[in-house]
Amino acid sequence: MSSTDPAHPTVDLGGLEVSPIGFGGMALSHVYGGIDHADAARVLREVIDAGVTFIDTADVYGEPRPGTSGPAGTNEELVGEVIAPVRDRVQLATKFGITGAVGADGTPVRGDRAYVRAAAEASLRRLGVDHIDLYYMHRRDLSVPIEETVGAMAELVAEGKVGRLGLSEVTADELRAAVTEHPIAAVQSEWSLWSRDVEAHVVPTAAELGVGFVPYSPLGRGFLTGTMTRESVQQTVIAGAERFGEHFDANQAVVEQVRAVAEELHATPAQVALAWLLHQGRRFDVATVPIPGSRRVERTVENLGALTLELSEDQVARLDRVADLAVGGRNIVSDPRWISSGRE
Ligand SMILES: NC(=O)c1ccc[n+]([C@@H]2O[C@H](COP(=O)([O-])OP(=O)(O)OC[C@H]3O[C@@H](n4cnc5c(N)ncnc54)[C@H](OP(=O)(O)O)[C@@H]3O)[C@@H](O)[C@H]2O)c1
Repeated sequence: MSSTDPAHPTVDLGGLEVSPIGFGGMALSHVYGGIDHADAARVLREVIDAGVTFIDTADVYGEPRPGTSGPAGTNEELVGEVIAPVRDRVQLATKFGITGAVGADGTPVRGDRAYVRAAAEASLRRLGVDHIDLYYMHRRDLSVPIEETVGAMAELVAEGKVGRLGLSEVTADELRAAVTEHPIAAVQSEWSLWSRDVEAHVVPTAAELGVGFVPYSPLGRGFLTGTMTRESVQQTVIAGAERFGEHFDANQAVVEQVRAVAEELHATPAQVALAWLLHQGRRFDVATVPIPGSRRVERTVENLGALTLELSEDQVARLDRVADLAVGGRNIVSDPRWISSGRE
């Protein structure tokens, strides 16, 4: 049951009550620019104090230590360190499946039973917890039936190591197959003003099955906020991706449209982008919890302003047209099957 108590609003993801906006922990791992460990820990502490208690991480986030192989795990270690004193206030989500071994053994994704079990044990150890509230399959291993992967995840639930299950970048059919094995609390896939392909099949299927949605990159990896420059993109791992590289200038039309609505509302583009997503969640009747990430706590506080921002019908209609202005696809890797729309 979701709570509308203004002091502590929550959203229900398959029985897990989470803050209505979560925090994307990947931002604290040198993906879109640098931050050192002490600053990252301070930011995360302040984020939780500000009431953003649904924390998203993954075993693969972070910088691999020299001489080690497999998922880096350093983001999980950071999250584990910070949440230790406030564990009961945090809804902890992590993911397995991206092996971090792309160059080493050529198997970028694994979802076989033995791997799922070993990955979960490693995450529990790094996080320093005995229970993960929401455990996601990060990517589908196309060589393994999804029923096997979800079956292995269900065993972790039965053993009390995991509370609820989630799936990232799955197709509608994969989601249907998964729920035959175990209830799925949430799909986590990219969904934002300029990345709306999930609305064709995945979101309606989630709505039909009572599965929640956790939109990742809800600010378009920062682009929709209008604060990204050609120079700042060069500091990030997405510098070469279509939308941020060759089409960076063309996509300023996207930013202008969002900014225009923000100015009318005396709000920021980030707040507008998130408010539109929350509106989409209501439109599709699916519990929707975006997880923007930032290295600056004041930006997380700013993002919370989306919860009380009201968009007019006309503003929603104009924001609905933003995706038509976007040039270049949302996939940041060359394999089209890396994202759900590459397989639908
Ligand atoms: N399941 C998956 O495959 C997958 C893939 C990608 C991401 N994720 C998850 O989703 C989370 C969010 O996605 P994301 O980090 O890719 O993208 P995002 O949240 O759309 O954008 C993050 C970027 O936006 C900037 N930002 C945040 N709030 C801002 C504001 N109010 N004003 C201006 N700039 C702002 C941050 O920069 P500063 O740090 O400079 O503020 C950061 O670089 C990740 O942290 C991760 O947990 C999951």
